[in-house]
Amino acid sequence: MTKALEGIRILDFTHVQSGPTCTQLLAWFGADVIKVERAGEGDATRGQLRDIPDVDSLYFTMLNHNKRSITLNTKTAAGREVLDSLIRHCDVLVENFAPGALDRMGVTWEHIQKTNPRMILASVKGFGPGPYVDCKVYENVAQCAGGAASTTGDPDGLPMVTGAQIGDSGTGLHLALGIVTALFQREKTGRGQKVMAAMQDAVLNLCRVKLRDQQRLERTGELREYPQYPEIEFGEAVPRAGNASGGGQPGSILKCKGWQKDPNAYIYFITQGAVWPAICKVIGEEDWITNPHFATPQARLPHLKMIFDRIEEWTKTKTKFEAMDILNEFDIPCGPILSMKEIAEDESLRATGTVVEVDHPARGKYLTVGNPIKLSDSQTEVTRSPLLGEHTEEVLRQLGYSGSDIERLRTEGVL
Ligand code: COA
Repeated sequence: MTKALEGIRILDFTHVQSGPTCTQLLAWFGADVIKVERAGEGDATRGQLRDIPDVDSLYFTMLNHNKRSITLNTKTAAGREVLDSLIRHCDVLVENFAPGALDRMGVTWEHIQKTNPRMILASVKGFGPGPYVDCKVYENVAQCAGGAASTTGDPDGLPMVTGAQIGDSGTGLHLALGIVTALFQREKTGRGQKVMAAMQDAVLNLCRVKLRDQQRLERTGELREYPQYPEIEFGEAVPRAGNASGGGQPGSILKCKGWQKDPNAYIYFITQGAVWPAICKVIGEEDWITNPHFATPQARLPHLKMIFDRIEEWTKTKTKFEAMDILNEFDIPCGPILSMKEIAEDESLRATGTVVEVDHPARGKYLTVGNPIKLSDSQTEVTRSPLLGEHTEEVLRQLGYSGSDIERLRTEGVL
């Protein structure tokens, strides 16, 4: 079976998380991803958060599957020549260096266009043009600047960052879409182009509903589905809404049997309007179906706390999985709070290839998240991340370098 991106070559100049998530996706879709790393140390994440001494960390292995690795000192004249060969050889250069680093290396857009006019240059940066354009950025900075932190957390607590890596992996996803779109356009124009995904922009895109709420707040002075309503006065900006659900269907995290000991014995429960009668029947409050204080979504808004307290009395009598089974029978939207341990052991996620076991020559077997995007005609096989410089010779030979050229470049410290 062919792969969707077979034949596409990626010069992967990415490091840490945002860029590598993007190129890993492209590799899963069949692109040949050549990761260019600094000799000696390579991508800094190889050595970060190590769980086994001197072995590539899970941080690195879980972001760099299906790639080839070469080491190259791009700050030497001979290294620049190799880099130019790679630019001629590849379709896309993906990078997430600090602002200006690529230019300082001499790899300007003009240089790329002169060397290979079909090449697409794809970049992750922290910010787009503006006051912070030159800033270095990591995940949580993006979450804060993109509107996620100010709108996440307890209503009376600090701004909060989320565990989902929406700044890094979220931006990598956006960049991947930009790259395949630019490849599609190149089919018609024959020209490469620049693709840029700023982390602030990507986070804001994912926080779109909060900008919606900002405008609703400015127009009406309140957000009735937020837990602040009706007791607490709204300020000028969208407040943190705790675990209230973002849409028009109120939701909350409720305790389940065993919550006293198990920090994840909870369920997310949504009081979807369409199934309100079923909810009332399940919890034994059938008169709420017609009681004017509860009968319509609008009437329920001022009583949400009391309603969820009552539903919680019921969920506390069931484990989260028992509650799921009962609620699903009635099509009541709900979800168990799954721990990472439960997810790692989940057989259905293993069966679909979303959680995969991979073998690595130095670390042995480990679990990773496979390709979350399933294509029926382009199956993903997750293969281990490369060792540092594992493919240097193989790639250089493909570029036309002879054994003695490679030896010379090694002696000169270029490779
Ligand atoms: N050979 C020689 N030099 C190399 C090289 C190679 N193969 N690969 C990288 N370098 C050099 C770069 O040219 C740069 O040198 P310069 O500063 O002299 O121009 C240097 O290594 C460091 O690159 P930089 O990107 O500045 O790394 P950093 O560790 O200082 O910063 C980030 C890391 C993530 C903060 C920064 O890269 C960044 O802001 N990136 C954009 C946003 C982003 O992706 N953030 C998310 C990270 S998950």
